[in-house]
Amino acid sequence: MTAHPTVPAYSRVLLKLSGEVLMGDSAYGINQKTMVRLSTELIALHRLGVQLAIVIGGGNIFRGMSGAADGMERTSADYMGMLATIMNAIALQDAIEQQGVAVRMVSALHIKEIAEPYIRRRVVRHLEKDRMVIFAAGTGNPYFTTDTAASLRAMEIHADVVLKGTKVDGVYSADPNLDPAAVRYKQLTFSEALEKQLGVMDSTALSLCRDNEMPIIVFDVTREGEMMKVISGDPAVGTLVKE
Ligand code: GTP
Repeated sequence: MTAHPTVPAYSRVLLKLSGEVLMGDSAYGINQKTMVRLSTELIALHRLGVQLAIVIGGGNIFRGMSGAADGMERTSADYMGMLATIMNAIALQDAIEQQGVAVRMVSALHIKEIAEPYIRRRVVRHLEKDRMVIFAAGTGNPYFTTDTAASLRAMEIHADVVLKGTKVDGVYSADPNLDPAAVRYKQLTFSEALEKQLGVMDSTALSLCRDNEMPIIVFDVTREGEMMKVISGDPAVGTLVKE
């Protein structure tokens, strides 16, 4: 039997990778084996012709919110979170490049020795030239999450969809770790997600997607092969949020 090649359902996607997924089974930081696995999967999508832009989180290194909860001024904590995303972006860029694929890391904070500054038109040109793009430092503003950065950048680059790669396989009616009766939604509207506070993304990120008709798919990126299924448009994978 010959395997059918995957036909991508999207041509330009914004992938949000949570920082936690980079930890793999480590308790903290970046797990190199996980990094190689993720970059191999990303490259497989890239080879299908999908233009990939990635917003990376920083929660495996530093969480702005928990820093603030511990008594740090929120803006200071958020800037530390942004610096954490820069470390993750360097590591991901390195892992992709080591497999021979062109990738450009761009940063919302100016650190020109390490990354290009974020310039929208330049990012679009990178994508058109078959380079992957990694966005670091969120939006560059405190009080905005990397999910909001993902929504904003998706709009700016006219992505077809936001793929939110996280550690759960979709959006549930309740926390599946606490409530055994929790069910996974296959599809939701933005209004449902906002009203029921289902934790898809924070409300700023969700509203931005809702107001600009940008669909979101939440899926488990820790499962090998899942990204490819999402790209092929498999409706059985994850939760689709759209109006
Ligand atoms: P084209 O102009 O489309 O050919 O793009 P390019 O990115 O290949 O060319 P460019 O000469 O602009 O960049 C060459 C390399 O330098 C790439 O790896 C860029 O990511 C990197 N680069 C460009 N600008 C900056 C910057 O301001 N800071 C850092 N650290 N790297 C940069």
